[in-house]
Amino acid sequence: MKIHLLIAIGIISLLVIFYFIFFSNKVNENPITKIESKIAKIERQLEIFEEERISKEWNQMIRKYLTLPLDNGYGSHAIVLLAALYVSKSGPILELGMGTASTPLLHRLAYEQKRFLLSADSDQRWINYFSSFTENNTLHQLKYIEIKSEMGIEWASANLAYYKNWTVVFIDHRPGSRRQFDLMGYSHRSDIVVLHDTEQSSLYQYSQGLLLYRYQYRFTKLKTYTDALSRKNETLIKMIRHLLESTPDYYFSNITLNENV
Ligand SMILES: *[C@@H]1O[C@H](CO)[C@@H](O)[C@H](O)[C@H]1NC(C)=O
Ligand SMILES: *[C@@H]1O[C@H](CO)[C@@H](O)[C@H](O)[C@H]1NC(C)=O
Ligand SMILES: *[C@@H]1O[C@H](CO)[C@@H](O)[C@H](O)[C@H]1NC(C)=O
Ligand SMILES: *[C@@H]1O[C@H](CO)[C@@H](O)[C@H](O)[C@H]1NC(C)=O
Repeated sequence: MKIHLLIAIGIISLLVIFYFIFFSNKVNENPITKIESKIAKIERQLEIFEEERISKEWNQMIRKYLTLPLDNGYGSHAIVLLAALYVSKSGPILELGMGTASTPLLHRLAYEQKRFLLSADSDQRWINYFSSFTENNTLHQLKYIEIKSEMGIEWASANLAYYKNWTVVFIDHRPGSRRQFDLMGYSHRSDIVVLHDTEQSSLYQYSQGLLLYRYQYRFTKLKTYTDALSRKNETLIKMIRHLLESTPDYYFSNITLNENV
């Protein structure tokens, strides 16, 4: 009798102890905080995956679209244009000033991203040189701007505000003295402006125009500088900066390229 009683008491007290252990555990680990911390962990993991995906895609784009090692002078804007088109993804593009480093690159990218591209130049030879780009392709148009004045005022009357707001505007045209006015004019009609030759900012008198852009990034890794500018979108400029700063050194010169191969 006594033994049975003792066993019963023992079992009951064990149950009580287990109950308290279980109960107190439940109280200490709030299930909501537990789930939240799990979600945060998953989100961090997803961010890492996304970061790796973008970095991989960016490297593939550099190899696919650019000539390596990257050009230090006339073509130093190419990688900045590539980044601007990559981060903006859609919307019309305006190229002020054509050339072998920008026009074929923009043509290929715009074609693949299905974006409208208007390329304009004051030299008829560039228009003729790239005339095949507009064959069978209504998304790419070329426009010759006949310049007679020293200051290139004809750029203003050329009616390039066709789309009113451009997603990307590339500024690299002649005469150089005209650029400052288009830098100002397009600040309200663009998401991103890519401006070339900014190491000679005072020569081109860019400073007044630059004041209109709240978000700026100057890419100085190549000898001829290029700015990525936006009046309204900080995210786009931050993304361009991130891509350019994460670009491996071996794309920049033959010497380092050889070291890394
Ligand atoms: C444009 O289309 C025509 C007819 O289909 C073709 O003969 C021509 O080669 C095409 N041009 C280009 C540049 O693809
Ligand atoms: C162009 O952008 C300006 C300034 O952000 C805006 O006021 C205007 O409505 C836009 N125009 C078009 C056609 O989207
Ligand atoms: C900036 O651009 C990004 C990417 O295109 C877009 O998601 C975002 O809404 C834009 N922000 C502003 C303030 O326009
Ligand atoms: C890099 O190497 C290639 C192939 O050897 C050569 O054609 C090119 O001129 C070199 N570029 C520079 C900037 O040294």
